[in-house]
Amino acid sequence: MAQRITRTAVPRRYLMCRPTHFEVTYSINPWMDPEKPVDRELAILQWERLRETYLELGHTVELIEPAPGLPDMVFAANGATVVDGRVLGAKFRNEQRVAEGPAYSRWFRENGFPEVRDPEFVNEGEGDYLVTKSWVLAGCGFRTDPASHQEAQDFFGRPVIGLRLVDPRFYHLDTALAVLGDDEIMYCPESFSPGSRAVLRRLFPDAVLVSAEDAGAFGLNAVSDGYNVILPQAARGLAEQLAARGYNPIGIDLSELLKAGGSAKCCTLELRMAGSTAPERAATPTRTACVV
Ligand code: ARG
Repeated sequence: MAQRITRTAVPRRYLMCRPTHFEVTYSINPWMDPEKPVDRELAILQWERLRETYLELGHTVELIEPAPGLPDMVFAANGATVVDGRVLGAKFRNEQRVAEGPAYSRWFRENGFPEVRDPEFVNEGEGDYLVTKSWVLAGCGFRTDPASHQEAQDFFGRPVIGLRLVDPRFYHLDTALAVLGDDEIMYCPESFSPGSRAVLRRLFPDAVLVSAEDAGAFGLNAVSDGYNVILPQAARGLAEQLAARGYNPIGIDLSELLKAGGSAKCCTLELRMAGSTAPERAATPTRTACVV
């Protein structure tokens, strides 16, 4: 039977970092090949387009100054996790990115976030922490130390659900799963261990299940405001699935950043303030969809 579903866009506040110093000079994930040329000018244009898209949708975008010598700093999602205005700083696994942790934490301290925690355990921010209405979903297996999951739970006072990633191409949770709104998610089952798959089925029986092909196009590295879903344009099957569920998929080309193993979500850190997801503050017209 058809069911009426209203999708509501909620204005968001994001932090981004211009890829001024972007390059691929080392390899810490299977997408990175230092031999393959990168067009930095094009990367900047593609990134600007992403930022403009957010602004056109009514979102706020804050910027952090890019630091020379930190080519992956464009991937702002890794810089911290922010819930109810409380900031859990990042502690990177790979030495090439370690200096980004303090750089991002400094930005928060200087920009009106009084509660910034220096992390005890390795965690790569929203790369591995994704926030739904009821839970914090937490990846491990490649980057974030599972010991960080307890640290996040204690710090945020929200239940943290640990999920194990098993495919090295999907080394961060935000490459294998995306939050669409409240407790709605999409994910690629093959990216998770059998136990984690069972947990996801139990918590999210209505989740959008994404094919390995669309996940391979980085389709799950998506940013949703509850209605508009920005995702790599190559993930065409996924865009159709989202439209059928009443979302508004917006395809974007971030091909240069994909050479470092990142796309839309990786470039975007959500600044969640207390009470910041009140649906009455809609950014764009809401749509009612009939979902079968
Ligand atoms: N080259 C970066 C790394 O391997 C890409 C980070 C992508 N960020 C993300 N949130 N998945 O760390």
